[in-house]
Amino acid sequence: MEPPITIVILAAGLGTRMKSRQAKVLHQAGGMPLVEHVVGTALALAPPDRIFLVVGHQAGQVQAAVAHRGIQFVLQADQRGTGHALLVCRERLAGQQGHLLVLYGDCPLLTAGTLRQLVEAQEQGQPAATVVTTILEDPTGYGRILRNENGTLRAIVEQKAATPDQLAVREINSGIYCFRAGLLWKHIGEIQPNNVAQEYYLTDMVEIFRRAGHFMQPLVLADSSEVLGINTRAELALVDRILRERKARQLMLDGVTIEKPETVTIDAGVTVGIDSVIGPFAQILGRTAIGEECRIGACSIVRDSRLAAGVQVAPFTMVDSCELETGVRVGPYARLRMGAHLESGAVVGNFVEVKKSRLGAKAKSQHLAYLGDATIGKGVNVGAGTITCNYDGERKHPTTIGDGAFIGSNSTLVAPVEIGAGSYVAAGSVITKNVPPDALALGRARQAIKEGWAKKRRAVAESRT
Ligand code: UD1
Ligand code: CA
Repeated sequence: MEPPITIVILAAGLGTRMKSRQAKVLHQAGGMPLVEHVVGTALALAPPDRIFLVVGHQAGQVQAAVAHRGIQFVLQADQRGTGHALLVCRERLAGQQGHLLVLYGDCPLLTAGTLRQLVEAQEQGQPAATVVTTILEDPTGYGRILRNENGTLRAIVEQKAATPDQLAVREINSGIYCFRAGLLWKHIGEIQPNNVAQEYYLTDMVEIFRRAGHFMQPLVLADSSEVLGINTRAELALVDRILRERKARQLMLDGVTIEKPETVTIDAGVTVGIDSVIGPFAQILGRTAIGEECRIGACSIVRDSRLAAGVQVAPFTMVDSCELETGVRVGPYARLRMGAHLESGAVVGNFVEVKKSRLGAKAKSQHLAYLGDATIGKGVNVGAGTITCNYDGERKHPTTIGDGAFIGSNSTLVAPVEIGAGSYVAAGSVITKNVPPDALALGRARQAIKEGWAKKRRAVAESRT
């Protein structure tokens, strides 16, 4: 039987160099808090009851951000270093055998594949622990890896404590480890508070194990970007870019066409069906699910929405929290929000806003309209410039338009109001009373003609000069 895997994710620190009121791990990259990326990766290797997130700074908010993943939490009330962060887990976790993985909440690019490699490396040669290392062009700030002649670890020295010779070492500690759980819990109490800051360094385990007759080995990663830990907002932007590239690449490999992929922003939680096309500068955010053969036009923003197959979103359109059924067409320059639901084949054109409304199958509102709190039947035609007056200054009121009705251009529908199925509203009407089915409603001033009026006016004006 495979030894069980337990994962501890350290996420209690504030992250001073972010210069933020918000805990570092709550900052977003790839459309998700940093810590959630790490939790997601951990879940690929262990069940949620074996994943422990160490929280401290803004513990409540950090916990709330990932609670839906069902993982466990350990509070580190004072942050006294990486060694201390594990020490506070000892009571809950001691007695557990198998592998103990240690990850950082601010290291979101790490992949499950690398963690599997780490576990494999740990299972060969029986070290007390394996640590993920990498070679950096500029190792400044990281702990440096010092090796014995046989390649095992001699020590990890922190930047602050390193001699000039040690600072020249370019192999660094990523901070990601796989420990033999039993051995770690047995010896972790031996870490002594280090340096002036009185911090407990987890990196001291190298020497503690050595004294106890054990050893630690490195696993050198060729792709050092994976272990990029975020310390500043500049690094946050870099990681965000890498996560976006990864997501776009994955979608393309899965059968989605992306035009100018370097310009799009697609969140980690988004799904897109095959043969869909995403235009340049599109943003597809949150929990959006897009079906097959859709088109998301250039510069459009789609958030938390469901698009069925064959939906066309023309450029410069915003779709937020909506449901668009098969073959719906929206935009360009349309705005749909707050639960707008367009049934199959419905069309919403340029400069139309749809809020909390439902459009029936093949209903159309092609130009310049506001449809709020409206229920619009199948095949309805909403003329250009139609406004549902849903707000009386205090409350919102509904508008209902029956199947097949025709709303003439520039109509004003003062809610609450009902337009019966199959009826017509004359262009330019102000409708304040319900219209029965199959009727014609006119609500506008009758047109008057004064023959020759203009000619007379000009004559009067000329006689004055
Ligand atoms: C640590 C390592 C260093 C390594 C680097 C990689 C030590 C002593 N040093 O340094 O060798 O190169 O990571 O990024 O381990 N945390 C807690 N509680 C604490 C302190 C930290 O949960 O009391 C968490 C932080 O939130 C963060 C992670 O642990 O997610 C790393 O802490 P950080 O202070 O950034 O460690 P470094 O100084 O970067
Ligand atoms: Ca760090």
